[in-house]
Amino acid sequence: MKITTLKSYEELSSTVANIVERQLKKQPLSKLALPTGSTPRGMYRELIKRELDWSHTITFNLDVYLMNVNHPESYQSYMKKNLFDRTNIYPDHCHFPFRPTSAFEDKIAGSMGIDLCILGIGSNGHIAFNEPGSSFLSRTRVMDLTEQTIVDNSRFFDDVGDVPTQAITMGLGTIMESKKIVLMANGDHKLNILNVAMNGEVTEEVPASVLQNHDSVKVFYCD
Ligand code: GLP
Repeated sequence: MKITTLKSYEELSSTVANIVERQLKKQPLSKLALPTGSTPRGMYRELIKRELDWSHTITFNLDVYLMNVNHPESYQSYMKKNLFDRTNIYPDHCHFPFRPTSAFEDKIAGSMGIDLCILGIGSNGHIAFNEPGSSFLSRTRVMDLTEQTIVDNSRFFDDVGDVPTQAITMGLGTIMESKKIVLMANGDHKLNILNVAMNGEVTEEVPASVLQNHDSVKVFYCD
């Protein structure tokens, strides 16, 4: 698969923001699947600057930690701070995975599916919180986070012991039903896993490798 290397984090952010902007302008009633983490922050900043009309847009976040949603590091807080509170999107249009997870799946299906899914990638090849070994057919479910993911994400918390150990994540099967997918990766520590996932063996041990089976995926990288 082609990995497009961009010159800077700013270019990565504006390139993906351009794709989101085009989607919202072409189809105001778009359903987006949205990521968290450090990588997409610049893209959200770009989108806010552009003052787009989000009033018809529906969003589904890819994953949430199982934790108090009011905690500053919950993904609900992240989305409010980085996007939702700074656009005209309706809070009722913003969905996060919840239990029963089948009801979250029903919400996606009831909205006629995801038009554009933006993904990051974890250092072990996870997408959303689908850890290595996740079935390519998996649906939204509770996931135990790996030691690697807990350590990687501890930079957002005071102590590694404060990192939630479980999450609710869209499944790989759910993600793969998106009409279009964009994956963004930032930092040379991601380059090896990105190459393995996009051009190595398609295996459940590398969750992001499932994207090789999708016919509309764009992959952007900057170091
Ligand atoms: C978390 C999120 C993923 C994200 C990954 C990479 O584990 N659940 O959706 O892609 O981190 O995050 P970062 O961009 O901070 O490296």
